[in-house]
Amino acid sequence: MKILAIETSCDETAASIVENGLKVLSNVIASQIDIHQETGGVVPEVAAREHVLQMVPVLDKALREADCQWEELDAVAVTEGPGLVSSLLIGRVTAQMIAEVKGLPLILVNHISGHLYSNWLDHEEEVALPALILTVSGGHNELILMKEDHSLEHLGRTRDDAAGEAFDKVARMLGLGYPGGPEIARLAVDGDREAFDFPRVMLEKESLDFSFSGLKTAVLSEVKEYIATHGLKDESEFSESFKKDIAASFQEAVVETLAAKLMRALERYPQVREIHLAGGVSANLRLREKIEEIKRAEMKFRYPQSLKYCTDNAAMIGAAGYYSLKKDSGLLY
Ligand code: KG4
Ligand code: ZN
Repeated sequence: MKILAIETSCDETAASIVENGLKVLSNVIASQIDIHQETGGVVPEVAAREHVLQMVPVLDKALREADCQWEELDAVAVTEGPGLVSSLLIGRVTAQMIAEVKGLPLILVNHISGHLYSNWLDHEEEVALPALILTVSGGHNELILMKEDHSLEHLGRTRDDAAGEAFDKVARMLGLGYPGGPEIARLAVDGDREAFDFPRVMLEKESLDFSFSGLKTAVLSEVKEYIATHGLKDESEFSESFKKDIAASFQEAVVETLAAKLMRALERYPQVREIHLAGGVSANLRLREKIEEIKRAEMKFRYPQSLKYCTDNAAMIGAAGYYSLKKDSGLLY
């Protein structure tokens, strides 16, 4: 079964053709990063206008790269939310129109469900459920249990900032570019993880929720203190070693907090067979390293096969759409 998938929840116009929920025949992404770098973040109206301009060329490329004709498609899947309303609308209207004109079923996919299925893409081995999935990006931060029938139990979510958002904001404090995660990760490689004792906010004893605003405030106060004690004009005068140490200590605090919550969840759900990382922050190598350390020997640890499946993409929407269609038609258990 071939599904055409469209994703426009934020600042990437993406289309993909996915076969049987696993095999990616094409995965086209038109990024707007250059445009949003100028403003240091995404301006919704600008993002929506770009989606309008990019949509047809991206669709065209997705079909061509997959060597797929319109007639070969079995369904159209599209992100229904959460995301920027004006951006979502462009993808939704496009998908709806294609589905109507071509007489195909339209599958509405939740963006976060999409991220959950990014670990199905191009993986050789079948996923063994139940799986504990930590999905971390700029907009969301959730801990989810996916059961044998693919139903989801939400175990925890962020109460304030998502981990990726914290990476982006700390990067801004250091005068780095957008998105901040990769920049912080790059600087952290040579930094001292123990240079600053940043908080690991664990919340209540039983809680699987996350909170990163306190950590962000702690970084801000170190940054302000550094500016004051060194009599600097602003962040452009920071030394490389200060930036590296802040990046390494901050990253360690985020990674340890995420890992500690995963540990809590594993103790509570011993039947879990796999641990998955998804979302933009799953590209973080230190986070992957930490999870390797905490997982039990018999468990499989998966993260997206390619960096392009970590960040927003349409292939994951195609995979989630496939399983949703299978479930609705009673083919899945
Ligand atoms: O999933 P995604 O592309 O978009 C959202 O739905 O938010 O995730 C983007 C987020 C950004 O906050 C970015 O800073 C973060 O993922 N990110 C990283 C890394 N690469 C991307 N964070 C930490 N380490 C990285 N290597
Ligand atoms: Zn996302």
